[in-house]
Amino acid sequence: MNTAILGIESSCDESAAAIYDVEKGLMAHAIYSQVAVHADYGGVVPELASRDHVRKLTPLIERVRAEAGHPGLAGIAYTRGPGLVGALLVGASLGVGLSEGLDVPLIGVHHMEGHLLSPRLEDNPPDLPYLALLVSGGHTLLVYVAGIGHYQIIGRSVDDAVGEAFDKTAKTLGLGYPGGPAVACAAETGDPTAYDFPRPMTRNPGMNFSFSGLKTAVKLAAGGTPSSQEVADIAASFQQAVVDTLTIKCHRALDVCGASRLIVAGGVGANQRLRDALGDQAATEGFEVFYPRSEFCTDNAAMIAYTGYCRQSEMKRSDGVIDARARWPLTDLAPPGVQLT
Ligand code: KG4
Ligand code: ZN
Repeated sequence: MNTAILGIESSCDESAAAIYDVEKGLMAHAIYSQVAVHADYGGVVPELASRDHVRKLTPLIERVRAEAGHPGLAGIAYTRGPGLVGALLVGASLGVGLSEGLDVPLIGVHHMEGHLLSPRLEDNPPDLPYLALLVSGGHTLLVYVAGIGHYQIIGRSVDDAVGEAFDKTAKTLGLGYPGGPAVACAAETGDPTAYDFPRPMTRNPGMNFSFSGLKTAVKLAAGGTPSSQEVADIAASFQQAVVDTLTIKCHRALDVCGASRLIVAGGVGANQRLRDALGDQAATEGFEVFYPRSEFCTDNAAMIAYTGYCRQSEMKRSDGVIDARARWPLTDLAPPGVQLT
């Protein structure tokens, strides 16, 4: 019996493929990052992203199929959305073509559901329910995951995403792209108490976030020509303001949900200072915190193949329609097999 699921990810600037086996778990995965393609522009250029997916996805799929020993496929899971529509269409077209050519069913997966479930790929997977902090270049969300397909958004950014704030801070400080790792690196030699940056929206009771004021505070602090020590101090103080804000909101959200498990996913989840702070908080407050391995914090196809596995009952023969959704609210999802009216 065929038990392998091929995952394809192409929602933004990573091309990725993976094989998740229903019995053996993750068998192979490969990620190609387009960082170098977009570096000169300081951000993702959608048309360049689409073209690079066209070049890279097929060899990546070949590679993971070979690494997994060319298993028979039980299904194909591709990222249907949300994301850049041209980039999504590349993965969707490949998914439909392979589904028809190999005569296996397919499913279009929600990218954020992939992130939400990604820590379950690890050896010590978190049991459901859990609270998820999803922090990426495009999203800052606190989601209560009661079960697969039962997602309640309890906090979100009202303006910039936290990864975007890292990227813009890096730009302001002349630290290169992508901003998150560059700011974290500069912060290592800086003093996190040097600048008293705001911890936005932590005094009012809700669980929403706002990062545009912090971005402006960084711009004001970096006016003129800051010395390299000042740059390090601003980076460290900014990072500390973000970490404090996120930990305060997580504490509140865990309380409100009555949850004892926190998972952190999305690119900013790779930030070591954030991990250390949440680890300390978990130890003193008695909750558990889980992360995907660092290469699965950022975009990857292992989480897409795994989500396809969780929703295997919804896989269907291709009807030839190449289906991508640039916008797709997470709350539109239902548990596997449940049709929303
Ligand atoms: O999840 P992801 O790969 O892509 C999206 O779906 O958005 O997240 C990318 C974001 C970028 O904004 C990047 O600057 C940030 O994650 N990031 C980090 C770190 N590594 C990546 N931010 C802070 N610290 C890091 N170590
Ligand atoms: Zn992502």
